[in-house]
Amino acid sequence: MNIKLPPRSAWSIPDDVIYFNHGSFGPAPRVVQEAREEFSRRLECQPMDFYLKQMEPALDQAMSVLAKFVGAEPRDMVFVDNATVAMNIVAETADLQAGDEVLLNDHEYGAVFRIWRRKCERVGARVVNAQLGAIQNDSTPSTASVVFGPPRLSNANEICNSLFQAVTDRTKLIVVSHVASPSAIVLPVTEICRQARERGVPVCIDGPHAIAMRHVNLREIDCDYYCASLHKWLSAPFGSGFLYIKRKLQRNLQPHMTSWGRSLAGLPERWQDQFNWLGTRDPAPFLAVPAAIEFLEQTGLEPFRQWTHHLAQSARQQLEQLFGQTAWMPDSLDWYGSMVTVPLPIGGEKRAKPNSMHPLQQKLRERFQIEIPITECRGQSLLRVSCHLYNTLEQIEYLINALKTVLTSG
Ligand SMILES: Cc1ncc(COP(=O)(O)O)c(C=O)c1O
Repeated sequence: MNIKLPPRSAWSIPDDVIYFNHGSFGPAPRVVQEAREEFSRRLECQPMDFYLKQMEPALDQAMSVLAKFVGAEPRDMVFVDNATVAMNIVAETADLQAGDEVLLNDHEYGAVFRIWRRKCERVGARVVNAQLGAIQNDSTPSTASVVFGPPRLSNANEICNSLFQAVTDRTKLIVVSHVASPSAIVLPVTEICRQARERGVPVCIDGPHAIAMRHVNLREIDCDYYCASLHKWLSAPFGSGFLYIKRKLQRNLQPHMTSWGRSLAGLPERWQDQFNWLGTRDPAPFLAVPAAIEFLEQTGLEPFRQWTHHLAQSARQQLEQLFGQTAWMPDSLDWYGSMVTVPLPIGGEKRAKPNSMHPLQQKLRERFQIEIPITECRGQSLLRVSCHLYNTLEQIEYLINALKTVLTSG
C-alpha cells in the first residue's frame, strides 16, 4: 500500500506503550496540541479582548472548516465538549410524553442508554432495546433483557428489519450509532434514516467513532441529530465535539445547562448563542479542530482509512485464529473501519464486578504495556483493537504473542 506515514514522534505517546485504544481516547498529534496551546495563550494574554472580540469569529472560522469536513452547513452545527454533551442536549430537547418510546438497540453505548433511561423515567416514557440482526417474530422487543450469543450481522436489510420491527406508533425517536462502540460494527445509518423518514420518526445518530474513520456526509445521511466527539478518530484535542441539528428542529432546542444565552460580542441573535457561551471556559480545543483535519489530510483521508483498516483486518484474522472465534461482521471495509472486535475464547476469566477491568485487559497493561479494551455486548466479551497512524503490523504481532503467553500460562 502506497502511504507516507508520519513518524511516531509526531505523537507524544511514550515509546514503550503499545496504544490500541484510539477508539476510547485518541491522543492528538503534537501539532494539534501546539495549536490548542497557542489559542490558550491568546486567551491568557488578553481575556477581555479574546472573549468579547476574538472568540466568536474564531469559532465561526473553525466551524466552517469542520462543517465542510462532515458535509454540512456551519449554521446547522454547534461545538460541544463531546458526544455525551451533544446527546444530553438532544434528550433535554426531546418532547416526550407518558407512554412514548425511544428506540435504541443492543449495540449502543452504556452512557447513552443511561441518558435516555433517565429522560424517559422523568416523563413516564420508556426505552425500547432492539436486538440487531436477531429477528424475533414471536416476541415483542424488551426494555431490559439481554439476548446472549453472537448476532447475525451480515446483511444491512436484516439489521434494518430488526430495528424497524421494534418501531411502534409510540416511537418518538430512534437513537443509533454510526459505528457501534462495543462491537465496532458500521451500521447502515443512511438507510435507517431513509426508512425512519417514511415512518415519520426522527433519528439521532451517535457518531463519535465515525468522524475521520468513515467518509461522513451529513447531507447524504439526512438525519435529524448527529452527536460526535472529535477527540477520537479525528485526533482533535480532548474536549472537542459537535452537535448537528436539522434546521426545522433548531428553534425548539433546549440547552442542557443555562447561561447568558446571547452573543458576548453583541452579534445578531442565533440559536447557537446559548451553547457557545456556557460560562467562562477555554474554547481552545474547538479552535484547534482545523489543525487536526489538516494533519490527517497531509497523509490523505483515504490512505488513512485504507491503512488503518488493513491493520485492523490483520489483527482480526490473527485473533480469530488464536481465539478460535469469528468476528461478528463480514470481513470488509463496508462493515468495519479502523477498529475491530473479536470475541474472546469461551470459558476464560471473567470480570470480578461488571464495572471492573477485565483480568485479561489488566494483564496486557501491566505485563506488556499494551492498552487495549475488552468490551461487552450480548453477554460476550470482545477484544477491541483500534488502529491509528502510529500503530504498526509489528505491534499487532507483539499483541498476538502477548496474548499467547497470557492465554497459555495465565
Ligand atoms: C458510541 C459512543 N457514543 C458516545 C461516547 C461518548 O463519548 P465522549 O466520552 O467523548 O462523550 C462514546 C465513547 O466512547 C462512544 O463510543
